[in-house]
Amino acid sequence: MGAGVVGQLRARVIAAHPASQLLGVADPDVGAARRAAGQARVVADYRPLLEDPAVGAVVVATPAPLHFSMCMDALEAGKHVLCEKPLAPSSEECRQLVDRAKALGKVLAVGFNHRYYPCIKVLKAALPSLGDVQHVRALCGHRGMSEFRADWNYRAELSGGGAMMDLGIHLTDLVGHLFGDIVKVFGTASNRVWQIAGSEDHAVAMFTTSRDIPIAYHASWAEWKGYRLILEVYGSHGVARAFYAPMLNMQVRRCQGRPSYSWNLHPWVNVREKLFGWETTAQIAFAEEFQDFIGALDGHPGACADGAAGWRAVEVARAVYESSQTGSPVNLA
Ligand SMILES: NC(=O)c1ccc[n+]([C@@H]2O[C@H](COP(=O)([O-])OP(=O)(O)OC[C@H]3O[C@@H](n4cnc5c(N)ncnc54)[C@H](O)[C@@H]3O)[C@@H](O)[C@H]2O)c1
Repeated sequence: MGAGVVGQLRARVIAAHPASQLLGVADPDVGAARRAAGQARVVADYRPLLEDPAVGAVVVATPAPLHFSMCMDALEAGKHVLCEKPLAPSSEECRQLVDRAKALGKVLAVGFNHRYYPCIKVLKAALPSLGDVQHVRALCGHRGMSEFRADWNYRAELSGGGAMMDLGIHLTDLVGHLFGDIVKVFGTASNRVWQIAGSEDHAVAMFTTSRDIPIAYHASWAEWKGYRLILEVYGSHGVARAFYAPMLNMQVRRCQGRPSYSWNLHPWVNVREKLFGWETTAQIAFAEEFQDFIGALDGHPGACADGAAGWRAVEVARAVYESSQTGSPVNLA
């Protein structure tokens, strides 16, 4: 469902996977659906596809305000679902989807493909060598308004929020995935740059995880240039840093009292992106995520984010908004 920028990439991934077949693409922009579909069926309205018993699973890559109804319809029709982020604009809608998927025995996965980015995988592999993780610094941002093509991208009444719900949500998921569920949130959300009511262009927060790790978090719609993700992990034995874009990793370990540095510059990723664009990296991440989604249908989810992770990421964003208004920390169950 949805054949826009992300839907085109996701359709290619489904068609290329040896265990799946692309049976149909739904988009009211039938030309876009046709470009994504190849030989598969093209429909403007997604409902006929849900009636097709041959369809086992649905990938939702539509604007965020449509996610809830499409995911719910797909689940009720007996389909497994992989939904793009955010799972839904409100925490309550996410809860309903998670509950319904559980009741119906269906897999509900959320498109947190940053888990599969090479710099994140290198950082994850380095974690055991860092010793006791003491604190984490996390930043994610892009330029803001010049990146948007439609109003649902930035209007809070449609998508549920601003920078945190848009791209910061990947980082919220990552820190929860790597360092334990976020259980306490203290933050501030401001719209001083673009001044769009309810849509923060900056969310700055302090998270505490279930492992009692403090995380300094910053989601931004006012980066000077391009897209930037930084994750820095400080442990008792060293530091690991992941950066994108360009993709790179740096690690410092203490060896007999002295720092020892190592770098991973991911030259193949960065050259490929220079030649063919960022979409190549996204598509590889989507393919690995889809592989894990297929695994989840067989009971082996791998790193694929489930509905609960999608719900928690939305809850955390809402907790930052609440904390920003009340000036107090918010505890999450
Ligand atoms: N994981 C990532 O890295 C990443 C990156 C960008 C966007 N996204 C997410 O992917 C989703 C789509 O974003 P996009 O950038 O591809 O948007 P887009 O605007 O390029 O595409 C959205 C598509 O949905 C179609 N659509 C609208 N109403 C529909 C309906 N009723 N039925 C079927 N299709 C319908 C539109 O016609 C359009 O083709 C959003 O949830 C967004 O947050 C994820």
